[in-house]
Amino acid sequence: MKTVPVALGSRSYDVRIGRGLIESAAQHLQPLLRRPKVVVVTDENVATTQLPSLRAGLEAAGIAVDALILPAGEATKSWPHFTRTVEWLLEQKVERRDIVIALGGGVIGDLAGFAAAVLRRGVRFVQIPTSLLAMVDSSVGGKTGINTAQGKNLVGAFHQPSLVLADIGALDTLPVREFRAGYGEVVKYGLLGDAAFFEWLEVNGPRMQGEDALRLHAVGHSVGMKAAIVARDETEEGERALLNLGHTFCHALEKATGYSDRLLHGEGVAIGCLLAADLSRKLGLLPQEAPSRVAAHLRAMGMKAALSDIPGDLPDARALLALMGQDKKVVDGRLRFILMNGIGDAFIADDVPAEKVIEVLEGR
Ligand code: GLY
Repeated sequence: MKTVPVALGSRSYDVRIGRGLIESAAQHLQPLLRRPKVVVVTDENVATTQLPSLRAGLEAAGIAVDALILPAGEATKSWPHFTRTVEWLLEQKVERRDIVIALGGGVIGDLAGFAAAVLRRGVRFVQIPTSLLAMVDSSVGGKTGINTAQGKNLVGAFHQPSLVLADIGALDTLPVREFRAGYGEVVKYGLLGDAAFFEWLEVNGPRMQGEDALRLHAVGHSVGMKAAIVARDETEEGERALLNLGHTFCHALEKATGYSDRLLHGEGVAIGCLLAADLSRKLGLLPQEAPSRVAAHLRAMGMKAALSDIPGDLPDARALLALMGQDKKVVDGRLRFILMNGIGDAFIADDVPAEKVIEVLEGR
């Protein structure tokens, strides 16, 4: 098992990464519990694959478990399911000293974390991420929230978990498309801050889903990078925005595809990182071969690496640019992009000419 501490003073916590952590969750949770009871929020898929072993392990340790099972999919990260979750937690008589467990991918983690943030003005919660995306990104760092008609993640709160248990065994049952989507966030770490990690991924990425040692290294390294950034900039006053590499493009594409199965978030992040590389090249920051190298790696992973890989029609480049205007990272009405001075060397740019963005969107 690998442990990555997230150093946030009195709100510090561990991210523990390894195989079998769901089954043995009781031993990790016991020190946090003030009474032998937990409530779990999960989705229909994870309720079949992971909830039985979490429940069995907790009940064997004398811990009572109640579970709310929500529909799987991005549409669950919405006001109706949020209301339902908060009301269910109140019906379970969850008290401020209790622990809410988010068992699932990014949708469940963000939704349950936000519910925990507002319930009784804040109860503690534990993230047990079951997707690669949630393990390397959304379960760490305390961003919680839901989507609204106006855009993604526009309503939410910073609420740090008390513990994260990333059981890499949960990736055994993850559909390959979901695994590859999560991998989009892994690649992001290499591109934003660690060229050697990107090189490691080029060599090892294609074998990663099948090998525990590779999973452990990739998840541990990604979480380590995220923990360091979050510890320096918890509420995204500056550096944390680097974690949004590819996300301005991604959010526009997700909006254009109606947050549907046509494009998973991590797929959008991967394409967004590639478009950010294209934009960086167009602005003279990256050599010609850098975007080609990123695209080649995505292709080697069997991932989407062009707008034409997204099924169905997309709005034209100008309409996509307009969709970026609703992104919450807009500062004083100007679009912000995370660009690269090199692979592994990202920075925040506030004055990117719109025409260059349009040329990039039209070029891929
Ligand atoms: N997913 C980006 C962040 O946590 O800041």
